[in-house]
Amino acid sequence: MSNDQESTDALRQELRTGETIHVDAHGWGLTWAVRDDGQLAQVGLGPNGHTAQVEVPLAFYPLAYRTWGSADPFREAALRVTHADGTLTTRLRAQALTRTALPDGEHLKIECRDELFDFNVEHNFRTHHDSGIIEQWVEIEHGESGPVLLHDYDSACQLLLAAPEAELIQFGGSGWADEWRWTTEGLHPGIRTLSSLGGVQPHLQRAPMLMLCPDGPSHEDSGTTIGMSIAWGGNTRFRVDVRPKPEPGSPSEVVLTAGANPYGAEYLLEPGQRFVTPTVAWIWSDGRSAMTDAFHSWTRARVLRDPEQSRAIVANNWEATFFDFDEDRIKGLIKQSAELDAEVFLLDDGWFGSEHPRNDDEQGLGDWEINTNKLPNGLDSLAETAEQAGIRFGIWVEPEMVNQRSRLYDDHPDWVVRDGHDPALHRNQLYLDPLLSEVTDFESNVIDQTLASAPSTSYVKWDANRPITDPGSGALPRDRQSNLFVDGVHRTWDVMRRVAEAHPSVDLMLCASGGGRSDHGTLRYFHEFWTSDNTDPVTRIRMQWACLHFFPASAVAAHVTRWGERPLGFACAVALSARFGIDLDLTSLTDGESDVLRASVEMAKRTRDLVQFGKLTRLISPTDGTDGSRAALAFIRDSDAVVFRYQIDSPTSDSAPLPQMDCFDPGLSYRVHRTELNDTVRSRDEGLHGGGGVADMVQSWPLTEALSADILEIRADGPLLRN
Ligand code: DGJ
Repeated sequence: MSNDQESTDALRQELRTGETIHVDAHGWGLTWAVRDDGQLAQVGLGPNGHTAQVEVPLAFYPLAYRTWGSADPFREAALRVTHADGTLTTRLRAQALTRTALPDGEHLKIECRDELFDFNVEHNFRTHHDSGIIEQWVEIEHGESGPVLLHDYDSACQLLLAAPEAELIQFGGSGWADEWRWTTEGLHPGIRTLSSLGGVQPHLQRAPMLMLCPDGPSHEDSGTTIGMSIAWGGNTRFRVDVRPKPEPGSPSEVVLTAGANPYGAEYLLEPGQRFVTPTVAWIWSDGRSAMTDAFHSWTRARVLRDPEQSRAIVANNWEATFFDFDEDRIKGLIKQSAELDAEVFLLDDGWFGSEHPRNDDEQGLGDWEINTNKLPNGLDSLAETAEQAGIRFGIWVEPEMVNQRSRLYDDHPDWVVRDGHDPALHRNQLYLDPLLSEVTDFESNVIDQTLASAPSTSYVKWDANRPITDPGSGALPRDRQSNLFVDGVHRTWDVMRRVAEAHPSVDLMLCASGGGRSDHGTLRYFHEFWTSDNTDPVTRIRMQWACLHFFPASAVAAHVTRWGERPLGFACAVALSARFGIDLDLTSLTDGESDVLRASVEMAKRTRDLVQFGKLTRLISPTDGTDGSRAALAFIRDSDAVVFRYQIDSPTSDSAPLPQMDCFDPGLSYRVHRTELNDTVRSRDEGLHGGGGVADMVQSWPLTEALSADILEIRADGPLLRN
């Protein structure tokens, strides 16, 4: 995100005492100013933060971006390093500001230098006036007499005031199949650290996003909401350091930091080497809906590949077959998927390994030649079957990993991440060392060669199914083994970039044991991500609800499966509110289920432009401040809308009512099509209605049975008079 093509007419100015720096994000922003001692003070933050003026001596303002030794010795700092001569403190002085105009905003670089050392920190802000998102990161470089050890290296650090009712919303769960768990909590004195570990699929434990509502609970259309996302494919950390003031009822001072998690990942930085922290994307908005609009628009503009391309309906074989398939089975599924009108058939894990056939997760990973026992005619024959059936062919790979029982491991036991201990196995596999160029070459070759073996393949699912347990790299000297956590992400991104550039017309799905890599940094090389292996539609309503706060539905893959044994129509209705797909044994469907699935595929085609490109409107939350028995959301594009209503549990007397949607024009007539999905599918044209009537229809709640759903497709039909 820092790699913009920037115009050369950047304006650089020396920074002097008293000078102010305004960061204008269009509707909000921040102001920093240079104190007498050269340190930067935070003068403003929030809706008027970018226009703030210095009104009292700068010494009374909090320090911006705290370094260890710069300010309050009782608070943890954003930057803490051991300098080459052993000095533990850092005190930065602002030197210069460079402003570069960009088509949709501005890039500001604030250069700072330590009082004593040739140690330089550059604060970067990239504003986006169309979305209001600020990208913030830090770059560190030094010319000291030897390496400098970075202990804490946050990307962003701000101070704000929080009312006693302030709330924090975080998305940490128990790990695999529990992504995007929504937790709302108050702010309490002390430091709340919200971090993830594991290195490879850290977001299984915690999505790298957070919402902070400093004035008290926020709502869809009101209430200050600070939304933050750490665009980092590795471990992340938020710290919310809350210090109350002595006067009862007065706001607390909160220092909010965000960046890569440095736990076990201290970084030894050579003189002349540049260390770039992850980008933190954030916004200060009035209401949650505005926050989501900003993240969706920024994700489309700055993150997603081919953002304007409708995502295809993917039929995957994983939940249908797991490892147990042969050519006939797969060809049968391809044909059935095509008959259903799905658009991509994705062959998942288990297609490779000849000496060590991948018939379970115990062997074969790393040996990317065809398993001829299962697929004697290779991938090309499957791709050909797909082509003949009129469906695209896609393939699963996990290029970063190896089973111990594999030819790859026999040939290259020194390629794996490990230290002197026997490396621990996870899912019977080891992690290939991304710092070895022979490994990264191997990884990109895996994809090149797999695609070359079936050249019409146009979709790839890239998986990664274990964490780092024994962080050690043969590519790093003894004293910088912990650099692996940061360097590993950059080298892995290099491979992903290489693959994306080499295969621009292949759609890439990001997956890591489910949603273990759901971040705005890694997503830059992909079209979509696998949200979670947990596809129980009841859980998925909650997961997708949370995830869609930060990602547009086009990026959020949602497949219909048998998880939870819910009515198939209900599972379809849930998958239809994100990027719809199917992961079912199509041979085991009853006639009724086939009808439901067929109708759902048709509906996915009719509604996907609304779902994937429309404005998300949340109506009833399944998680937050409600009894959880229902949920409803809508997507609006131009004058059309699609509304999803879910009755999750039996109706209760205190179920939240639906708010009135005000997007329907009273002067227009709308054609409404209602489809009920549970055990069966019942679809009805509800005729033409004026805008007011449509709003009433949406607000009414016709669902009475647990695990039932309906979908309203609402299309503007012209001026009301025509009705
Ligand atoms: C984990 C993924 O999340 C699943 O969808 C599937 O691809 C398996 N890996 C295959 O091993």
